Amino acid sequence: MYVTNHLRGRSAVVARLSAICGAPQPSGPSASATRRMRAGAPAAGEPVPTSGSAGTQRPDSLMAASGRQAAGGVEEAAEEPRILEPGAAPFGNFPHYSRFHPPEQRLRLLPPELLRRLFPPSSSETRPILGLDVGCNSGDLSVALYKHFLSLRDGETCSDASRELHLLCCDIDPVLVERAEKECPFPDALTFITLDFMNQRTRKVLLNSFLSQFGRSVFDIGFCMSVTMWIHLNHGDHGLWEFLAHLSSLCRYLLVEPQPWKCYRAAARRLRKLGLHDFDHFRSLAIRGDMANQIVQILTQDHGMELVCCFGNTSWDRSLLLFRAKQTTETHPIPELLTEEGKERNRLRFWRQ
Ligand SMILES: C[S@@+](CC[C@H](N)C(=O)[O-])C[C@H]1O[C@@H](n2cnc3c(N)ncnc32)[C@H](O)[C@@H]1O
Repeated sequence: MYVTNHLRGRSAVVARLSAICGAPQPSGPSASATRRMRAGAPAAGEPVPTSGSAGTQRPDSLMAASGRQAAGGVEEAAEEPRILEPGAAPFGNFPHYSRFHPPEQRLRLLPPELLRRLFPPSSSETRPILGLDVGCNSGDLSVALYKHFLSLRDGETCSDASRELHLLCCDIDPVLVERAEKECPFPDALTFITLDFMNQRTRKVLLNSFLSQFGRSVFDIGFCMSVTMWIHLNHGDHGLWEFLAHLSSLCRYLLVEPQPWKCYRAAARRLRKLGLHDFDHFRSLAIRGDMANQIVQILTQDHGMELVCCFGNTSWDRSLLLFRAKQTTETHPIPELLTEEGKERNRLRFWRQ
């Protein structure tokens, strides 16, 4: 049903996105995902993340093993022949992801004043901005986003304590999370947790526990950078749809960097080259093709969000799409400039002002 709805009206979204951007430019891992991980892991008998069960087994060793085995590399490896042959990283849990997809590529497209514009300080409101970074890997992008939005230079700490930004950063891979925690220069502002975002029960407990410290029920902004493909490959169309549903219900704004379809093919090819099982869902995915538009379609038609703007494309042809929830439990005035259709088209001029 969701697939049918989502495929219907696709052309309208293509047209809309083109107008705005100029050019459109498990249940946990199932048995075979587990086999894939085991094949990539030197140690046997390791726990597997499961979805929908309380106390999800932490995929520590599996993830760690996957990470250890990977010499480095990303899903684009096939498009980037100079990159070392990557190992099995079935969730995109590459140990040195930021070396291949550096944060700077994304940051240069994002106006540093973005959060200040979205959440202008008011005299009556000094509450911090709360962000959720899903699939944070080892935290390089999370830290870079934090510094970027607070305009901090290297070594500088936050001077404006009244407008704090707090990021909850989660990843399915505990080894990456541990590294992120160790290396984070802003431990008071960035919290790293191991979480399989597809595990409903754990997600609810951990996210609510964070939000409740601030007396809040939703995040101001969610970051979902280069994660959608891994959810899609491991959980199928329905998993992707659910993932986006959860994110949109949890965040007032959502910044998404979808992987294009060619990355799916590269990821599947890489597994085959390693002699591992294909992703369970790769061949049966009905949501395919122009993934940026597909995700726009799902979020806007099914999950009550609207596309605010597209910040352009990275050198890897990934667009950065900003969405806004039309309704959230916590309301906040939306800056007028961001909602006017005509000004959306002129977004670059607007952001450069
Ligand atoms: C390709 S990396 C992207 C890292 C970072 N967001 C960036 O853009 O630099 C994808 C990350 O998503 C994580 N991931 C995949 N599935 C996940 C899930 N179900 N829950 C939480 N994290 C997940 C992986 O472990 C991996 O670190």
